[in-house]
Amino acid sequence: MTAPFTPKRTTEDYQALDAAHHIHAFLDQKALNAEGARVMVRGQGLNLWDNDDKRYLDGMSGLWCTNLGYGRQDLTAAATQQLEQLPYYNMFFHTTHPAVIELSELLFSLLPAHYSHAIYTNSGSEANEVLIRTVRRYWQILGKPQKKIMIGRWNGYHGSTLASTALGGMGFMHEMGGMLPDFAHIGEPYWYAEGGDLSPAEFGLKAARELETKILELGAENVAAFVAEPFQGAGGMIFPPESYWPEIQRICRKYDVLLCADEVIGGFGRTGEWFAHQHFGFEPDTLSIAKGLTSGYIPMGGLVLSKRMAEVLVEQGGVFAHGLTYSGHPVAAAVAIANLKALRDEQIVSQVKNDTGPYLQNALREVFADHPLIGEIQGTGLVAALQFCEDKATRKRFANESDITWQCRTFGFEEGVIIRSTLGRMIMAPALVADHATLDELVEKTRRAVDRTAQQLGLL
Ligand SMILES: Cc1ncc(COP(=O)(O)O)c(C=O)c1O
Repeated sequence: MTAPFTPKRTTEDYQALDAAHHIHAFLDQKALNAEGARVMVRGQGLNLWDNDDKRYLDGMSGLWCTNLGYGRQDLTAAATQQLEQLPYYNMFFHTTHPAVIELSELLFSLLPAHYSHAIYTNSGSEANEVLIRTVRRYWQILGKPQKKIMIGRWNGYHGSTLASTALGGMGFMHEMGGMLPDFAHIGEPYWYAEGGDLSPAEFGLKAARELETKILELGAENVAAFVAEPFQGAGGMIFPPESYWPEIQRICRKYDVLLCADEVIGGFGRTGEWFAHQHFGFEPDTLSIAKGLTSGYIPMGGLVLSKRMAEVLVEQGGVFAHGLTYSGHPVAAAVAIANLKALRDEQIVSQVKNDTGPYLQNALREVFADHPLIGEIQGTGLVAALQFCEDKATRKRFANESDITWQCRTFGFEEGVIIRSTLGRMIMAPALVADHATLDELVEKTRRAVDRTAQQLGLL
């Protein structure tokens, strides 16, 4: 079978056309045009090949999403079969279809028992848009329409649409397109940068108690929900201290504020648990999901609701004034079913927890614990971050840390590994099917990129 586009052009041709027609994500387009985008043409397992047949080990699972890796025939077959049988139908006209029904049956068999309902979307951003409207609707039904402020965290990321940007805490994103009313933010639980002389446990409590201060400042009667990633992904893969989440949960319960976990990155096995909130031991009222739901083979996201919330919406809510053309899309649902079955039946999640996760975490600590450039190694399962520092003893960070990690990322590409730079941290999140040899290659190529960065800084 051939692809429905011109078979092969030169990389220069692709780059020129790409520059002529695209505005890329989170980049200076003019600078990228001068350089030319890397053209990826094929993937297998954890490997990607560019148009000049250079191989890269994908240490980021695409964008934290190809949990099963590339080239899975079971996912392709599921999509093909569903395309042939029923490529599209919707959930509007009093209708439904087997693919979405079976997806939900499977999804809720994997989730803790207090979740019961899902509203499917095409992406994580949309999942969070739906979250904002659904949470506000929930409080309206309960006779508290003034309870509508959503509290997020500075440097949190919840998507790129207008409201998900407002919910997120990326100041440079707020500056493009403006902020919305009824959103507020608290600090991030980033001990390395902000913990000062406090122990991580003390700092975790302090960071969590910012939520209480914010709720009291806004008035609990006005606050609908606190929304956060269990571990912060795009904001630097920041793992909060153990004291953080139990305190956040206590505060939310005390002030009757919904606790909403954005599981778009953490869901579907990344930490070695099915969902990241299970790793941290708290019980959110809602879960935003996407990415690993279909291993990125086809777009799909969703909002998962607790039974308690769903009961209010269904039994007392009347018409739910929301709907997306592609909500529960049959082809996406079929791929999600195949993906979840593979994660479950091949015991991939427990393998991450008991074998490959500890293997990667140990290897990173062995290689980088004494590295002059690395101040902290964080992570669990198959997600990890290396914190760059100027002075290990004082936890001093480089003033131009983003430039330094960006350089490291470029060295990574040259060494044939894709790792991500975010502020002062290098991040990795390989596909959950990585074996020991692949993880060895990931760590070794990362070491080379970090060493080259340290050499450039005169530290090695
Ligand atoms: C935690 C989190 N939430 C939401 C999103 C947005 O998802 P999408 O890019 O599918 O809209 C992302 C994307 O990276 C994310 O990391």
